[in-house]
Amino acid sequence: MPFELTPYLEERRSLINEALLKELSRLPSDSRVRAAMDYSLNAGGKRVRPVLCLAATDAVGGDFQQAMGIACAFEMIHTFSLIHDDLPAMDDDDMRRGRPTCHKAFDEATALLAGDALLSHAFEMAFRKVPGIDPGRYLKVLHAMARSVGCFGMIEGQMRDLLGETHLVSLQELEAIHRLKTGAIIEASLFCGGVIGGGDDKQLAALEAFGRRIGLAFQVTDDILNVDGDPNILGKATGTDAARNKSTYPALMGLERAREFADQLIKDALKALAAFDNKSDPLRSIANYIIKRRR
Ligand code: IPE
Ligand code: IPE
Ligand code: MG
Ligand code: MG
Repeated sequence: MPFELTPYLEERRSLINEALLKELSRLPSDSRVRAAMDYSLNAGGKRVRPVLCLAATDAVGGDFQQAMGIACAFEMIHTFSLIHDDLPAMDDDDMRRGRPTCHKAFDEATALLAGDALLSHAFEMAFRKVPGIDPGRYLKVLHAMARSVGCFGMIEGQMRDLLGETHLVSLQELEAIHRLKTGAIIEASLFCGGVIGGGDDKQLAALEAFGRRIGLAFQVTDDILNVDGDPNILGKATGTDAARNKSTYPALMGLERAREFADQLIKDALKALAAFDNKSDPLRSIANYIIKRRR
């Protein structure tokens, strides 16, 4: 039977949402920071990173339930990056995930703290041991996770993205920005899911190669949707990149060529999975979804 992505995503998202809610329920119920974390985390994100993490565990023949804590940690890190990305000092956006941004619903200080708390709580959650996973594997996962956030990953990408608003960015530099700001966390989600699943070095390298390509394609598609997407479907404003003079793929190469570039990246990504059997069908299907999505 051919693999069906829609019911798969529905099921995985609902398991992830359940685990995230349970995790937040451990935090002090009277905490304003918890309320802001909850507001942004449980606002209907697509859960692409945790879904990829669990799908990578499946692809190497592991038990996805064992990777649930790591998958949720990646979603917390991602949500932290969104809350800070929307702040007036960064992209200054008012809508996210179909509701006012965290700093609009609360205030800037609370949004800063909620982002910080999501980042640190991600590691608290990721550290929690799962029976059957040896400590060596955890160390590998935590190292990759930490590396994907800081100066080797998202934060460096965000810095360069902001600096790019003030000068002309080359295509080569734009690729580096996108790989860092968005690709790094997507790649790490896949790698870590593969490690938890007990993947061997070859499989992990293939997951990284796949992640590098779909991670870049994901941000190219985000750029395209900022031009031709529907804000009601996206849950965030469009046209904002041009308004802020951002260097994006459509700005540098035009919409059509940006679409072709994303298409080619997905074709190359699929090649990286050549040695995997049908347990990697969800990964293949998600790769195609990444460039076809309208939200
Ligand atoms: C948006 O990410 C920001 C980028 C890194 C491109 P998503 O498109 O995954 O946003 P959510 O999580 O579904 O809200
Ligand atoms: C997304 O950057 C990258 C991170 C949030 C780390 P964008 O600024 O392009 O994403 P959107 O379009 O606001 O979601
Ligand atoms: Mg941004
Ligand atoms: Mg933004």
